[in-house]
Amino acid sequence: MSTQTPRYEYSRAVLQDKIELFSNLNAPFGLTVRYAVKANPFKEIVKMMHRAGLHFDASSSYEATMLLKHGIPGSYISLSSQQRPHNLEYLLEEGVLFVATSLEQLNLYVNAKNRGSTVSVRINPAMGYGHNNRTSTGGIASGFGIWHEYIPDILKITNSVGIIVDRIHIHVGSGADPSVWRGVMKNALKIVDKFPDVTRLDIGGGYKVHRYGDEQEANMEEIMNVFSEELVSYYNKTKRQIKLEIEPGTYLVAHAGKLIAMIDDIVDTGKSGYTFLRINTGMNDFLRTTLYGSQHKIEVLNSNTEMREYVVIGHNCESGDILTCKNGDPEIIEPRLLKKASIGDLICIHDTGAYCASMRSRGYNAFPDAIEVMVE
Ligand SMILES: Cc1ncc(COP(=O)(O)O)c(C=O)c1O
Repeated sequence: MSTQTPRYEYSRAVLQDKIELFSNLNAPFGLTVRYAVKANPFKEIVKMMHRAGLHFDASSSYEATMLLKHGIPGSYISLSSQQRPHNLEYLLEEGVLFVATSLEQLNLYVNAKNRGSTVSVRINPAMGYGHNNRTSTGGIASGFGIWHEYIPDILKITNSVGIIVDRIHIHVGSGADPSVWRGVMKNALKIVDKFPDVTRLDIGGGYKVHRYGDEQEANMEEIMNVFSEELVSYYNKTKRQIKLEIEPGTYLVAHAGKLIAMIDDIVDTGKSGYTFLRINTGMNDFLRTTLYGSQHKIEVLNSNTEMREYVVIGHNCESGDILTCKNGDPEIIEPRLLKKASIGDLICIHDTGAYCASMRSRGYNAFPDAIEVMVE
């Protein structure tokens, strides 16, 4: 196994465990689990998901193209992108499911040569929730999806060419509380109600995991029970059987990843200041903390029992390159109690399987990328 640092290690066993968890979930009228590949597009992870029969959610035409290159059949890929696809005709020819996330995208699809007779639309249902404004993807302050008041415009466009909207896509952020997920589902079904031909509802991802402190981890079985109750109740009222789709990214891969780095230097700012562990990675490999003030467990990998307070910082020439900040606030540094460390010690940043290697500030200061390896 490689001992090179910095390196991302992805545990096959943890991945397998999460895949099994999702493979065993059910919904009353059918369930499709799509892996949100943006969380971690590492080829071996994609292959594991595919071997287990999972489908995929792609967030750009480039991601969809990459999945096709990895041998994923188009019919297993749903494209829901903020950007107008650069190769729409090719993706449609390959059978990729298209989700229009704006009226402009809907018009592009309607006029595409290879389009089918059905389409999916992503709706912003006027509610969103998440860690902060950077992770919420619904509500008035979010530019994701077609604002719910424009549903008549969607129907006007599709009716004019005889296309059926058969699938609704909604993704409003992230959280763990089942009662909030009940609200999300109730709201989503109100949207479904406005589309008489919809048979499938993709309720997105956002099932939160515990990484640090008092963060709550979502209980997927509990959330699926809540979803199922609402779908059955909707069926009882309308006799419409709605198939469910979910798009977990984080939950499938976050706990499988560790970022192993080396302490490159130790500096301090005097008696009333801080002691900083400078490590040989940072925002060029791992941006989440700088971007949204996310917190991860950090462990110094030596056998010391003595503990010290440290601020862990990255090696980039950027004062925001900090790995220990206040929860949700990258502006405020928060020292951590860690094992007494020396230059050359290894350090591990836990639960870095999702939105870490895939979302790094790649190339900054011309640092080479942390390598990625699978471990058992
Ligand atoms: C449309 C969509 N689906 C799925 C996901 C996956 O979310 P998560 O990784 O939190 O499960 C996201 C994340 O932003 C998303 O925007």
